[in-house]
Amino acid sequence: MAITSRPAHTAAVTPGVPATALPARAGHAAQPTADDAAVRRWLVATAWSVVAAVVVGGITRLTESGLSITVWEPVAGILPPLSHADWERAYQAYLRIPEAQTVHRGITLGGYQALFWWEWFHRLVARGVGLVIAVPYLWLLVRRRFRPGQAVAYGILPVLVALQGALGWYMVSSGLSVRTDVSQYRLVAHLLLALTIFVVAVWRATTLGRATRAVAERADDRASRGVARALALLSTLAFATIASGGFVAGLDGGKVYNEFPLMGGQFVPREYAELVPAWRNWFDNPVAAQFNHRVLALSTVLAACLLLLAARRAMSGAPWRAMQRVAVVALAQAVLGVTTLLLAVPVVVAALHQLGAVALLASVLVATNEARAARV
Ligand code: HEM
Repeated sequence: MAITSRPAHTAAVTPGVPATALPARAGHAAQPTADDAAVRRWLVATAWSVVAAVVVGGITRLTESGLSITVWEPVAGILPPLSHADWERAYQAYLRIPEAQTVHRGITLGGYQALFWWEWFHRLVARGVGLVIAVPYLWLLVRRRFRPGQAVAYGILPVLVALQGALGWYMVSSGLSVRTDVSQYRLVAHLLLALTIFVVAVWRATTLGRATRAVAERADDRASRGVARALALLSTLAFATIASGGFVAGLDGGKVYNEFPLMGGQFVPREYAELVPAWRNWFDNPVAAQFNHRVLALSTVLAACLLLLAARRAMSGAPWRAMQRVAVVALAQAVLGVTTLLLAVPVVVAALHQLGAVALLASVLVATNEARAARV
């Protein structure tokens, strides 16, 4: 569809149905318009670009490459070292940090270059996310294609992505002087901020794309209201599971107790409450982090399956299919998680597990939105 400039928000584009013929019931979702479609395309592109950054970021971490670039150069850093002297300078700077002297002790220039390329690629993709978010935002703003009053609300996305860049560097800087890796707190914050951008984009995209067909497919208003609420709770549980997974990753908790379902022959592992004060175990103890992640993950899967069972009579059509997707993705994600653990975190499986977390989040958001649409 050709996109042309228009002074204000344009009318609905349902084929064959004039906008004025649409029912204007109170609380009825407004029909998506051509402007909404343009905004939606931007949001979908944003969500996919975040997925790419999350996956490449995950691989960067899993290959222990994340600390290989010891400076933050948002513009000049686009170019990798171009001469032997440039490579030598970057290599020597890396050799001075604790990780190079421990985890990668004895690393050669060739070995360093392999690390460098992942981190450089991750930063390049991250810059791409910034462009995918900021440039179309400004274009949509100038062409007045946002619904009245929503330009400011969407402005949160460019702000968050700028913060994410700064947070990324804050995370890297935590591993450059004393530690041999980055702070797990900063790693989790970096992961969660990426996913927050993803959530905003997916939620708004599904809301804008919502069609009135859901009205015809609804089975029971009260039931779908309850299901929508339960799904919102499920998305919170999924988010908590993801945060706990970040701590497992940040503490290398996937390298201990590579067995399932028990940990050292016990349900609750012996070292669960090793640190004092007790709350520190959740954030500083790899064994406790892994145990918490198992419990939260299995609760998420169980909740998704129970919700599906409970809603089977009340839901139909697209909302029902969306709920089925949630349960299937949650189950697949748990299988990937257990496989990651049993195989002691191979890069490909662990990266798929990270991708699965994003897919789960997206499927819960879409299902929640569908259930809400089913009661408009
Ligand atoms: C709903 C289910 C689950 C979700 C949403 C989920 C999510 C995540 C996330 C987001 C990470 C962090 C990845 C990263 O930052 O690189 C992670 C890591 C991990 N998860 Fe899960 N997970 C789930 C189930 C499981 C299960 C059932 C297990 C095994 C018992 C498991 C084992 C692991 C391990 C070992 C890691 C660390 C991998 C690494 O170091 O990269 N997960 N999970």
